[in-house]
Amino acid sequence: MRVLVTGGAGFIGSHTVVSLSEAGHEAVIVDNLTNAKRSVLGRIARIAAEEPEFIEADVRDLDAMEKVLQSGFDACIHFAALKAVGESVEKPLLYYDNNVGGTFALLEALTQAGVKTFVFSSSATVYGDPDPASLPLIESTPIGAATNPYGWTKIMMEQILRDAHVSDAEWSISILRYFNPVGAHPSGLIGEDPSGVPNNLMPYVAKVAAGELARVRVFGDDYPTPDGTGVRDFVHVVDIAEGHVRALERHAGEPGVFTYNLGTGQGHSVLEVIAAYEQQSERPIPYEIVDRRAGDVAANWADVSKAARELGWEAGRRLEDMCADSWRWQQNAR
Ligand code: NAD
Ligand code: WQD
Repeated sequence: MRVLVTGGAGFIGSHTVVSLSEAGHEAVIVDNLTNAKRSVLGRIARIAAEEPEFIEADVRDLDAMEKVLQSGFDACIHFAALKAVGESVEKPLLYYDNNVGGTFALLEALTQAGVKTFVFSSSATVYGDPDPASLPLIESTPIGAATNPYGWTKIMMEQILRDAHVSDAEWSISILRYFNPVGAHPSGLIGEDPSGVPNNLMPYVAKVAAGELARVRVFGDDYPTPDGTGVRDFVHVVDIAEGHVRALERHAGEPGVFTYNLGTGQGHSVLEVIAAYEQQSERPIPYEIVDRRAGDVAANWADVSKAARELGWEAGRRLEDMCADSWRWQQNAR
């Protein structure tokens, strides 16, 4: 398949472009480089043997998207979005415009081009603050109230996609709800490269291991979890990337809306992550317990049986692999 990958220069997109190439598909990247660097293209080429076609454009630019789509595509995987939770609270309009507005323009251009197979990056954030009794989260769990504007953009975009399918049953839409994607490609050539101080746990821990930050601030140790710290379903980014290829191959051209959790099905606490990273990096990782972070949930992890049953997909990589690959990436000069 020839696949348009929006946001394909970013963290999950770049790994998915590699997985698409390994599976014999052709990926064409559209990215406006707001949170990525052009140099990722050469790095993808070193892993996948060829450099993907790249078009620098904004998905909100309908004219640009129409032009891109003239060259003929079988499917689109839509990663392009802003994703910083805290920033979304400060700049909600930017998030609604970029994420929801971008999806509108893209769907319009795809409709005109007759491309009706669509894979969408959703998030466990759509489950909101889950009732502990509802864990693990299954896809049929009612979508919660988001705890921030970023989360609302994902809830809204999911709804827009379901409505699009009601209005035109030819749409084949796979909604993939990722839990906490972490790690990097085992080559150490591509990974997550947040600018400034990382918001998310594993990139922060990586910088502490590297000596770039003094200590991890653990946000709360009084949650109703085994060690009191937050519990999340951390999942290797290469497993996530492979999940996209499976969803695409399973559902391309098949009318419907197909929703899957992508996680390991297992929760790990913040302290478990720090200990695993310490072991893999062989570096001490100092930490201090500080107050809870506003908006955080105590625990969430996925029921992943639907993806296993229908896509034949399971996240096989373990927390140790996630830490080891993250560390290899962290050590590579960028
Ligand atoms: P990322 O920031 O690394 O990648 C997103 C890419 O989209 C970037 O390269 C950015 O430059 C590009 N982009 C943003 N707005 C654009 C626009 N208007 N036009 C064109 N390009 C644009 O983020 P990621 O972690 O790879 O996330 C990819 C997708 O997965 C996002 O939709 C995100 O919301 C979703 N997601 C991420 C996580 C996570 O923890 N990383 C979890 C769940 C869902
Ligand atoms: C994980 C755990 C923190 C940093 C976010 C988004 C979510 C999704 C994935 C996109 C929590 C704790 C963190 C630190 C810490 N993204 N922590 N010290 O919040 O589960 O999910 O990324 O869709 O929408 O909200 O991920 O990595 O920020 O936090 O103690 O410096 O680590 O409190 O328990 P989160 P995270």
